[in-house]
Amino acid sequence: MTWHPQNPVRYQIPETRWPTAKEAASSLLFQPIHIGPIELESRTWVPAMVPWRATEDGFVTRDNLDWYRRFAEGQPGAIVVEATGVRDIPSGPLLRIGHDRFIPGLRELVETVRQASLGRTRLFIQIIDFLTVKRRPEKSKFFERFFKLNRNHREALTQITDDESWLHRNETDVLAFLKDAPAELLDQVLDEREIESLRFGYRERVTDTHLPHIRNLPEVMPEIFADAAERAQRAGFDGVELHYAHAYTMASFLSARNTREDGYGGTRENRVRLPLEVYRRVRERVGHDYTVGVRFLADEVIAGGSHIEDAVHFGVEFARAGFDFLSISKGGKFEDAKQPKVGWAVYPYTGRSGYECMPTVISDAVGPFGRNVPLVAQIKRAVNSAGFSTPLIATGGIATFEQAEAILQRNEADIIGFARQALADPDWFLKVKAGRGQEVRRCTYTNYCEGLDQTHKQVTCKLWDRVDLDEEGITFSEDGRRRLVAPRWEGEV
Ligand SMILES: Cc1cc2nc3c(=O)[nH]c(=O)nc-3n(C[C@H](O)[C@H](O)[C@H](O)COP(=O)(O)O)c2cc1C
Ligand code: SF4
Repeated sequence: MTWHPQNPVRYQIPETRWPTAKEAASSLLFQPIHIGPIELESRTWVPAMVPWRATEDGFVTRDNLDWYRRFAEGQPGAIVVEATGVRDIPSGPLLRIGHDRFIPGLRELVETVRQASLGRTRLFIQIIDFLTVKRRPEKSKFFERFFKLNRNHREALTQITDDESWLHRNETDVLAFLKDAPAELLDQVLDEREIESLRFGYRERVTDTHLPHIRNLPEVMPEIFADAAERAQRAGFDGVELHYAHAYTMASFLSARNTREDGYGGTRENRVRLPLEVYRRVRERVGHDYTVGVRFLADEVIAGGSHIEDAVHFGVEFARAGFDFLSISKGGKFEDAKQPKVGWAVYPYTGRSGYECMPTVISDAVGPFGRNVPLVAQIKRAVNSAGFSTPLIATGGIATFEQAEAILQRNEADIIGFARQALADPDWFLKVKAGRGQEVRRCTYTNYCEGLDQTHKQVTCKLWDRVDLDEEGITFSEDGRRRLVAPRWEGEV
């Protein structure tokens, strides 16, 4: 279930007038733009979207190739390949770039996009690190396998029951008691993290510095990201996007909730330190002639989290350091996520912050369309005032040419990201450019696709996944009911 604001307002997708081919040709949206050492043919951008199509070992599959080929056929200025793990560790059917053995598959992906876009689309890859998140355990399993009984638990039990025997009863008895204890009692006996592990599943944080592998993240992250970026370069990508957004390791360093006391937490300057060190190591490795961008949050939208003032600071620091583009997102955190079902892991797009990341038409007074733009504009003003011209990408509910063009005309962003609209209709860009906007299959912003992502099913769009199922040569989802890529556009230009 997706989170919705209280007293929701249901929006229609915006009415719009599509441009003629001539108007499109003279629009800012379809003008080229430099980012770092390269040029995009237009200011249109497909941000990262995980389609759940890699092998369990993290390799590129035919389904991945089909997915990116289909986006490339629409010839957007750039596509960012989904969040791809920088480490060589099992992570389910998500792409990985943590070892050289992943390079050949990624190279094929690059070639596929180059051919399908006729060389018109630049291809970046988003590289990500994440910490451990375990599935929500059965209550009995939690107490049998994961829970570590200590003196504090015994003392709490003694206090609550007024019975000192808990202090020395044998462990099996205590665990058996806790296993059947009501939630209210457990609330008083277990600490906050234990309650979270029981009800949501164990989740590491960057502040768990008592764990050596968390304490040493500042030592290992720069090299791991640099290795991954170099592999991206060797595979032929036009650049890398460092994933410093949403619920993952680097975003957690930037977070105002990062209270590490080793110089990498606390003040904004300290929180941005590791992200900058990672950038510098990546840059050293790939050289100045290679595009290195970053995705980060304008606002975490969680209690105690970072807000726009932090994002403005980070944006300026990232520009100063030499990042070639700044792609802005919002929310998508674990902290306010809904409780998962037993056997499932918590999903960071189920709470309010998740809503802000992928807003739907059931919204508040502001509405879902372009709701991040004022924040992007604020970061852009600060970056530009500090003397940098690093392009900023605005994404989030941008659904029409008129909207996109107005954002660019008002100089609120430099490039426009269209995620779900591109999924709904990968030919969107071509159609609008050709003056055939009325043929666009328009996203309804109701998040069927996000629901599939949430349950780790292959992502498709409800507007086309049951259409023309008898078409020759198409591939199907695991349940055999949905086609995996959008049908061809009959009226191709
Ligand atoms: C199915 C799906 C998967 C996504 N995966 C990623 C991802 O891997 N990395 C990322 O930064 N954002 C991811 N996003 C967020 C999008 O890039 C984008 O920021 C968001 O959908 C809002 O833009 P839109 O309104 O144009 O869809 C994903 C979104 C969807 C719908
Ligand atoms: S399923 Fe399709 S129409 Fe619905 S939100 Fe996703 S992309 Fe848009």
